Amino acid sequence: MTVNFPPGFLWGTATAAYQIEGAPHADGRTASIWDTFSHTPGRTLGGDTGDTATDHYNRRADDVRLMADLGIGAYRFSVSWPRVQPSGRGHPNQPGLDFYRALVDDLLEHGIRPVLTLYHWDLPQELETAGGWPERGTAHRFADYAHLVAEALGDRVDMWTTLNEPWCSAFLGYGSGVHAPGRADELAALRAAHHLNLAHGLGAQALRAALPSHGQVSVTLNPGVVRAFTDAPQDIDAQRRIDALATRIFTGPMLHGSYPEDLLADTAGITDWAFVHDGDPGVIKHPLDSLGINYYTPTVVAAATDNGLPGEAPEPSPWPGAAGVAFHRPPGKRTAMDWSVDPTGLYDLLVRFAEEVPGLPLVVTENGAAYDDKPDGDGTVHDPERIAYLHAHLDAVRRAISDGADVRGYFLWSLLDNFEWAHGYSKRFGAVHVDYATQTRTLKSSARWYSQVARTGRLPL
Ligand code: NOJ
Repeated sequence: MTVNFPPGFLWGTATAAYQIEGAPHADGRTASIWDTFSHTPGRTLGGDTGDTATDHYNRRADDVRLMADLGIGAYRFSVSWPRVQPSGRGHPNQPGLDFYRALVDDLLEHGIRPVLTLYHWDLPQELETAGGWPERGTAHRFADYAHLVAEALGDRVDMWTTLNEPWCSAFLGYGSGVHAPGRADELAALRAAHHLNLAHGLGAQALRAALPSHGQVSVTLNPGVVRAFTDAPQDIDAQRRIDALATRIFTGPMLHGSYPEDLLADTAGITDWAFVHDGDPGVIKHPLDSLGINYYTPTVVAAATDNGLPGEAPEPSPWPGAAGVAFHRPPGKRTAMDWSVDPTGLYDLLVRFAEEVPGLPLVVTENGAAYDDKPDGDGTVHDPERIAYLHAHLDAVRRAISDGADVRGYFLWSLLDNFEWAHGYSKRFGAVHVDYATQTRTLKSSARWYSQVARTGRLPL
């Protein structure tokens, strides 16, 4: 038996600039915070950097052809800010813009819809040196950058995303410091979260001003699926606190125009939030054409007990003001990231936002899994676990749609194996295997499976 997805449903794959492009010095590009971070000893596994990555900057046309051969309908990619505006301010760098123009033209020529993300974590280093996301000025720089890219590509790209997963930028970048720029400072993380929200609002305004009227504006979040370990009141309260820090700190201002009262109370020991200026909430709540949702795995929390058990709190914590919360390993199957496989989490998220913001279309802008895929010697890569993961999550999307969620598309993370941030090249998320020594691309069986689903719009049950 098979089940049909709605007509016009977008079947896509996703990537991000720093994870695939390489060519860090080509055509006037300058350093981003990820260049600096990955070149700092001890920051990434094995000292891996994005210097070469999948060499996509030089293999762009082949990679687009690969997607076309797979029958992929849409491609979500990000623009590297320091490639198109090297110092993070001022004039555009034309050769950098030309690369993205050529990419978009290749996509359109093959009937693949480009979905452009402006910020997937590669802040120009000069802006970090000036203070980075904890500083308000960075939000204004982002709006200028958004305007510049929209002027250059707005005639041929109609789906625009301001930020990818601002939670990671704020709380992994400035809270726990496991991501660039590697700062561990609770106050800086909360300030960063607000200025990312503001950047989204100002950026959305700048896009509207520069795009033709059919241009669509969105943002991609990674809302938490936070479950309480038990239904004891203290565990439910831990769930509420983490939900505020994981999700409502962004959806509050972006979708409803204010920060949640409980978040302000929980973090009162760190800040009085005076960095939120009058008028900011109105800017941040910009009407969106869709909401992008990335989902991989849920989080299970409980109140920490005096003897330190149960649970594992990450150290340093990416959760400002949540010292009393313990994190549990959910049961069940795991991916190579040690993330539990839980498709119900995706269903829950889609239904949550369908109910919370009726009328706002949803797009699954990332979903996928890392496994230790290896070529088997005869030129094929078998990844049945990834097929099972994708199948179960697409089935969750289908169930959410049949229960009323307006989901318009699904983007598999990722097209290619790539630079998985602090994990370097050790984690393979691709539907296409990359041999990093030769840059050979080999389809995994999941790519063939997904190709069939994308071409037909039908999921085998
Ligand atoms: C979300 C991020 O957007 C992407 O860059 C990352 O590779 C995947 N999660 C997997 O961790």
